[in-house]
Amino acid sequence: MTTRIYTPASDRYAGGMPYRRCGQSGVMLPQLSLGFWLNFGSESNRRKMHSIIYYAFDHGITHLDLANNYGPPVGAAESLLGSMMQTSLKPFRDELFISTKAGHEMWPGPYGEWGSRKQLMSSIDRSLQRLHVDYVDLFYSHRFDPDTPLEETLQALVDIVKQGKALYVGISKYPPEAAEKAYRYLAAHDVHCLAYQGKYNLLHRDVEENGILQQAATAGSGFVAFSPLAQGLLTDRYAGGTVPNGSRMASGQFLRPEMLTPQLMERLERYREVARGRGETLAAMSLAWLLHDERVSSVIIGASSIAQLEENLKAVHRAPFSHEELALLAQS
Ligand SMILES: NC(=O)c1ccc[n+]([C@@H]2O[C@H](COP(=O)([O-])OP(=O)(O)OC[C@H]3O[C@@H](n4cnc5c(N)ncnc54)[C@H](OP(=O)(O)O)[C@@H]3O)[C@@H](O)[C@H]2O)c1
Repeated sequence: MTTRIYTPASDRYAGGMPYRRCGQSGVMLPQLSLGFWLNFGSESNRRKMHSIIYYAFDHGITHLDLANNYGPPVGAAESLLGSMMQTSLKPFRDELFISTKAGHEMWPGPYGEWGSRKQLMSSIDRSLQRLHVDYVDLFYSHRFDPDTPLEETLQALVDIVKQGKALYVGISKYPPEAAEKAYRYLAAHDVHCLAYQGKYNLLHRDVEENGILQQAATAGSGFVAFSPLAQGLLTDRYAGGTVPNGSRMASGQFLRPEMLTPQLMERLERYREVARGRGETLAAMSLAWLLHDERVSSVIIGASSIAQLEENLKAVHRAPFSHEELALLAQS
């Protein structure tokens, strides 16, 4: 298949997308970043996936978030972006901030997942090959490994930076105590932890309650929010309790119809009412709510169509939240 010549929008930095400093670092991230978790697998329509990526870049989304295992199958998302990095996106490497991760199931056998030096070192090399880049901008330890000495995982991150394979490193889904050790260890080895990546949305606020959000800020690390729309629950995708064909819930792997309980539907309706009052959709308001906290450096959205992306981009032109709105959104 031939890749069309791509000319990015000349006004892509003309003020639409605001950028936020990622912790105490030199890196500015777009307030909305594009995630490659489930929407960029090998079975999806390639032309459509390319269009979503181009649309994102045309609108100032410079940060693309991947992982070794994103697809399906594992590796497919990196391969897709890699094919573009060889062709249409090649001239724009310096404008892109590409992150990837290692730690979830990637290949069979004892070295294919978790946080050993073996897993991380092998994985970054394979990611660079699939992505067709000399380095990634940010490399994350994708999850805390309770069985590997933390120092082994962290030293691998340090060495990956020192070998020039990643410019920055980060951690994802680490419990607070391990995160604290990670911030300290990396700093003591002259490598700043650029970001903590954690699940955060109106329905899942653990990072507020367990201190992760503030801990990252105190350490000078950014906080990057994933699954900001609770995989589609915080949108109109399942309004009225219907499960459309082709939706993430229809595939049943990470979202299941039984999650649509009467309690959740009632809560979503209350949130939708607040959104209506602001003249926003539930999706745009949910993203705006995350960005209203300055400690959130960037929000990584997933989008399976340009229409979704277009709707979600409205979150960057949000009105401030009133005390009343915040109080209503604080109710579970
Ligand atoms: N560090 C980690 O462990 C981790 C874990 C999960 C995710 N992440 C990162 O975070 C990214 C985002 O996660 P996520 O995909 O769960 O994010 P999300 O934004 O919460 O969910 C994305 C899904 O919501 C639906 N959606 C999005 N916008 C919509 C709209 N305007 N109207 C209706 N439906 C809409 C789509 O579902 P349909 O597909 O049904 O259309 C889309 O695929 C991932 O790609 C990945 O980069 C990281």
